[in-house]
Amino acid sequence: MEILKIEHLSKIYGKGETAVTALNDVSFTVKKGEFIAIIGPSGSGKSTLLHLLGGVDRPTRGKVFVDKTDIYDLNETQLAVFRRRQIGLIYQFYNLIPVLTVKENMTLPLLLDGHQVNQEHFNKVVQVLGLQDRLGHLPNQLSGGQQQRVSIGRALMNQPALMLADEPTGNLDSKNSKEIVDLLKLFNKTYNQTLIIITHDERIALQADRIITIEDGRIQKDEVIRP
Ligand SMILES: Nc1ncnc2c1ncn2[C@@H]1O[C@H](COP(=O)(O)OP(=O)(O)O)[C@@H](O)[C@H]1O
Ligand SMILES: [Mg+2]
Repeated sequence: MEILKIEHLSKIYGKGETAVTALNDVSFTVKKGEFIAIIGPSGSGKSTLLHLLGGVDRPTRGKVFVDKTDIYDLNETQLAVFRRRQIGLIYQFYNLIPVLTVKENMTLPLLLDGHQVNQEHFNKVVQVLGLQDRLGHLPNQLSGGQQQRVSIGRALMNQPALMLADEPTGNLDSKNSKEIVDLLKLFNKTYNQTLIIITHDERIALQADRIITIEDGRIQKDEVIRP
């Protein structure tokens, strides 16, 4: 089943002489449960692409369908709801809210939606992430690896259509990097959670089912590693 379809996606920042074409006519599809690594030089348009897949920014041209929904056909309010329910975003620097506890950070997207926390799902995610003893802690009382685990938990609370990670191990040492990638893979395999990771780390890219290489805002290569 196709969970994501991107058609002729382009993004130009700015206007006139200072305009930058960050993404230039990119098209591809993603099957539910796929694990994709996006690689490419710095400034090639990787983060721009990920943001457009997640409804964080609007494209200059082209379309993004997530689970058949044409997401840029939605108005701002609908797009915000879509993002909260269907997209799990993970960043290099975690982006946790400093004054909220681990549990509050994880459940915030649900509460913003007026939804009850599914306690069973919450407990399972917390258990897998090894955060049982940290639920009342604030982010600054946690290590980097633990903070990233919280941000993974937050991303998974809504059982999103897409989990999108922008260099999720960029700020971690090799042991914590491995743990984070192992966890992301576990959720990918166990829950068939579609996963797209931007990474500089070849060892991480080689664990994906498919590697997409971006250069100068275009797809330069799209290789299936594990059919
Ligand atoms: N908000 C922005 N305004 C203007 N230019 C931007 C903006 N974001 C990114 N760019 C430019 O778009 C290009 C692609 O950036 P980005 O998607 O962040 O690349 P990557 O993630 O591959 O390093 C770069 O030339 C960058 O300078
Ligand atoms: Mg980037």
